Amino acid sequence: MSAARCDVWWAAPALASPALLDLLDEAERARHARFRLPADRDRYAVGRALARLLCARAAGCHPREVSFLLRCGHCDRPEPHGKPHPAGPAEGWEVSVTHSGERVGVALSRGLPVGLDVERVADRDLDGLVSYTLTDRERAALDALAPAERPAGFFTYWARKEALLKATGQGLAGGLTSVEVSGPHADPAVLEWRGPAAPDRVQLVDLDAGDGYRAALAVLAPSPVTVAVHDAAPLLGAPQRACVSGTGLSEAAR
Ligand SMILES: CC(C)(COP(=O)(O)OP(=O)(O)OC[C@H]1O[C@@H](n2cnc3c(N)ncnc32)[C@H](O)[C@@H]1OP(=O)(O)O)[C@@H](O)C(=O)NCCC(=O)NCCS
Ligand SMILES: [Zn+2]
Repeated sequence: MSAARCDVWWAAPALASPALLDLLDEAERARHARFRLPADRDRYAVGRALARLLCARAAGCHPREVSFLLRCGHCDRPEPHGKPHPAGPAEGWEVSVTHSGERVGVALSRGLPVGLDVERVADRDLDGLVSYTLTDRERAALDALAPAERPAGFFTYWARKEALLKATGQGLAGGLTSVEVSGPHADPAVLEWRGPAAPDRVQLVDLDAGDGYRAALAVLAPSPVTVAVHDAAPLLGAPQRACVSGTGLSEAAR
């Protein structure tokens, strides 16, 4: 049997266009219109359009035929919120969407829950965030870094931990301190995960999202997963071609 696989696609918010907005459903367009900042609007449009294009390509349907059921892995609040789960023709595929600064990412896998997180390394006062994010051991490891390394170290922790919580669908409500991961200079690994939603088996990898960013991918799988990383620009620049047929994109997507 071939190894399980996960594909990760990176894009820039500047690729947002009316053609991409056309791929979104009514609820997504309404949400898009509610963002006050153009940068937030663009990140959202690119993330959702890319998720639709990828699911459509995988399922062999039009991007607008894909629907996303929002399910929260943490609470029972009645209004739809939480992780988007592909439905309709794309049922059985799993996606995770992330955006930060100039990066938008989507991870796609067949049947394996995925969590993708990218964080822009912000040169800001981290003191308030550290107790919300890190366990005592993680905090000690961060403190042991040279001061100039701490912002990148902190966001390495954040991306790894949030990728894990996004894979299970708990999101931040699951508590970043419920999961403990290896330090920024060590290979990514889960050291401890407390709580009923902690999965038995998870694969965690760091991804290269370019200078000034930290990114991680978590896949709920029992053994290592092959991860293929792609540039989504050709796909987003010609979304009409994607709509011609389920296979029409493969050339542009490589
Ligand atoms: C959404 C969340 C998981 C990610 O936060 P972030 O770092 O700000 O943003 P990212 O760009 O990395 O990820 C956002 C994407 O995660 C996805 N997402 C939302 N909730 C999710 C969840 N519970 N699990 C996994 N993915 C989730 C969505 O696709 C969203 O993007 P989109 O709305 O554009 O499609 C986090 O902010 C969160 O958990 N918020 C909810 C907290 C909350 O309100 N709790 C109370 C109700 S449970
Ligand atoms: Zn919830």
